[in-house]
Amino acid sequence: VNAIVSLAAPALSDAAYAGFQKLLRQHAGIHLADGKKAMVAGRLARRLKHHALGSFEDYQRLIAQQSEELQCAIDLLTTNETHFFREQPHFDLLKTWLPANLPAGRNLRVWSAAASSGQEAYSVAMLLSDVAPDAAWDVFGSDISRRVLQQAERGQYDIKLASEIPPAYLRACCLKGVGEQAGSFVVDPELRRRVRFRQIKLNAPLPDIGLFDVILLRNVLIYFQPDTKHEVIQRVLERLRPGGLFLVGHSESLGAMGAGLQCIAPSVYRKP
Ligand SMILES: C[S@@+](CC[C@H](N)C(=O)[O-])C[C@H]1O[C@@H](n2cnc3c(N)ncnc32)[C@H](O)[C@@H]1O
Repeated sequence: VNAIVSLAAPALSDAAYAGFQKLLRQHAGIHLADGKKAMVAGRLARRLKHHALGSFEDYQRLIAQQSEELQCAIDLLTTNETHFFREQPHFDLLKTWLPANLPAGRNLRVWSAAASSGQEAYSVAMLLSDVAPDAAWDVFGSDISRRVLQQAERGQYDIKLASEIPPAYLRACCLKGVGEQAGSFVVDPELRRRVRFRQIKLNAPLPDIGLFDVILLRNVLIYFQPDTKHEVIQRVLERLRPGGLFLVGHSESLGAMGAGLQCIAPSVYRKP
């Protein structure tokens, strides 16, 4: 019994949980629901172990002193689930919209604004290399989590994820790992060159990243509190060119926050 007790993770008190809720609200604008206590305890337990800390309160004191550890906690508490070609109807629409809207004299620019580990940005890049092979374009991906961005920059994924990519794109745009890289694939370096990633917090003023023809802000709005959601949408839309497209996740509605935009398909908006 003693051994079991000493191996068990420390309990997360309601007060400490409220502290993590506040932390995520302040730093990421994310609302952590009351029912997520077990998830938070589970995800942070390894950091306590790593620092040999006996309580979540000790861990909160550490976070308050070390910005590196704060970033680490945010990385662990954000939900990064993503897929290649997630929500296929968006890609079907882009397949016709992108080649029909190539600008003259400049790059067509796409921003994956909550890019996670890069699958969304690379899916758009694969599509562009198919439908606009000779055009000038670039894809920009950003996220609050440094950990997922590191994977995005590497462009290397478990071979199991290859099944999410249409076979023709897999052949044209990805390389199968061999030797030490067996069991993985990488996005072709030629394509990777046109996709850039950068850490950006959407719940704070944006850096100077220019304007975009298409912005994907998918499956992140659901985590924000209503006032943050409103601010983020306004801030991101300022970076969308007139006539450009704004895509949110299929289960995310803009409601009144989409005032002034034309809804041209489910969860796809056009800036007039
Ligand atoms: C569920 S993933 C969605 C990924 C992709 N857009 C998709 O639809 O597959 C949500 C991403 O939003 C990021 N995120 C959460 N809060 C953020 C914030 N305040 N600023 C920037 N990114 C944030 C998370 O780190 C996570 O990688």
